[in-house]
Amino acid sequence: MFGKRTSFGGNTPGVGEVARPVQSPPPRADVPAPPVSRPADTDSMASRLRPGEDVIDVGTPVNAQRDKEYFHTKSAIFNALIDSIDLSQLATMDQVAAREEIRDIVAEIIALKSIIMSISEQEDLLEDICNDVLGYGPLEPLLARDDIADIMVNGSQRCYIEVNGKVRLTNVRFRDDSHLMNVCQRIVSQVGRRVDESSPICDARLPDGSRVNVIAPPLAIDGAALTIRKFKRDKLTLQQLVKYNSISPEGAEVLRILGKVRANVLISGGTGSGKTTLLNCLTAFIEKDERVITCEDSAELQLQQPHVVRLETRPPNLEGEGEITMRDLIKNCLRMRPERIIVGEVRGPESFDLLQAMNTGHDGSMGTLHANSPREALARLESMFTMGGYSLPSRTIREMITSSIDVVVQAARLRDGSRRITHITEVLGMEGDVIVTQDIFLYDITGEDANGMLLGRHRSTGITKPQFAERARYFNEEANLVEALEKSNTEQHELMG
Ligand SMILES: Nc1ncnc2c1ncn2[C@@H]1O[C@H](COP(=O)(O)OP(=O)(O)O)[C@@H](O)[C@H]1O
Ligand SMILES: [Mg+2]
Repeated sequence: MFGKRTSFGGNTPGVGEVARPVQSPPPRADVPAPPVSRPADTDSMASRLRPGEDVIDVGTPVNAQRDKEYFHTKSAIFNALIDSIDLSQLATMDQVAAREEIRDIVAEIIALKSIIMSISEQEDLLEDICNDVLGYGPLEPLLARDDIADIMVNGSQRCYIEVNGKVRLTNVRFRDDSHLMNVCQRIVSQVGRRVDESSPICDARLPDGSRVNVIAPPLAIDGAALTIRKFKRDKLTLQQLVKYNSISPEGAEVLRILGKVRANVLISGGTGSGKTTLLNCLTAFIEKDERVITCEDSAELQLQQPHVVRLETRPPNLEGEGEITMRDLIKNCLRMRPERIIVGEVRGPESFDLLQAMNTGHDGSMGTLHANSPREALARLESMFTMGGYSLPSRTIREMITSSIDVVVQAARLRDGSRRITHITEVLGMEGDVIVTQDIFLYDITGEDANGMLLGRHRSTGITKPQFAERARYFNEEANLVEALEKSNTEQHELMG
């Protein structure tokens, strides 16, 4: 859904110190409108449904099903409002004070223009205007909900959400294409970017960390498409992964030990398989006093430790300048005296720098990578080296990989939609020109139940003294490791016997 490269503009606000929408003046009517600006339909939502579709009411459907007159009035008031106040000043106020300010001015405008309105109409209008000035217009009620995973706006009249794994059409609508473009523009302007006809593709992030992608006309034929992947405030914990059967308790114990004993871990998996979630879980076992530096394309990790520096890449600006790549970040990171380096996703030449870091005393570094098996992950790592223009003999590259990576953990989204950790695989060394790996922990699919859900179980492979047992001993975790591995192995014997 989001391009491989999630990119952000210059002064990306941190998740904590949030840039308020009002810091950049809201787009006005003169913001470039998409070339095909269709008037808003005023027919009811129901008549817009396609066969087999139903719509869910998501509370105040701001702007939906209101007549043209209302929007006309609102536009007039809105324009008068932005003419009469300095929006950048609103930035210095908190939400409540800003709303009060807007309320006063709007009341004044209504009186001045002798507009006749009931109190409740005025309240609705005020809410609408505040959402437009301080927030994200009709999207506000959706953004406020925690149970929504994704928001997908297909042009001004259709907005879908994903709740509980299901995609549903909502009754949220925008006035017209330019209203939608204005909201898109407001979102991306917070990270110093623009979206219009000349740069119709844009990635951004909301202050709460949600990821946003906008693709505007003329590329999007039926009006701008806005996709928001809502930021999950509470990332899953390892205990929850156990509860969801993504990993057995013993497997989780092995992962805990890997995090604790500063093994260099590569997490491999497909898109949406839970790599980032797993990486986040592993970071929970980093000691409080370790200096950790995270490098990501868009900050997703939520480390609990106090001593963390978070870094984020930056895409080039409109002139094609100013790009800061993952490579740049990792290189710089090495000058920051890190104890551990955590890389959100390795996908290019930065693989070289990450392995160098792992090799040079930054034990316990971790990263994720897109691959379907541990072996494929290692092969991809190797091919990424060549992307950086290194013409090292492949044997040298493989030696570097084996001496850096201790363990590959494989995450997978199975065909029934469940997410499992399918492999914990150790990288042993080289035999001739080949990298030798050894599975420590596996997930076996044993069948399928009546509902088409896959049955299976996690087991250890019988290896109770993996290579990293030595590390575990050093950190006083060897007994725990052996116990976890033996336990899931005996269970296996019992089952078979
Ligand atoms: N083991 C799991 N069980 C259930 N949901 C999971 C699990 N792991 C991840 N998820 C959910 O799946 C989605 C994608 O996870 P994420 O870690 O971002 O995947 P990736 O980084 O591989 O693309 C998130 O919404 C996350 O909460
Ligand atoms: Mg991810």
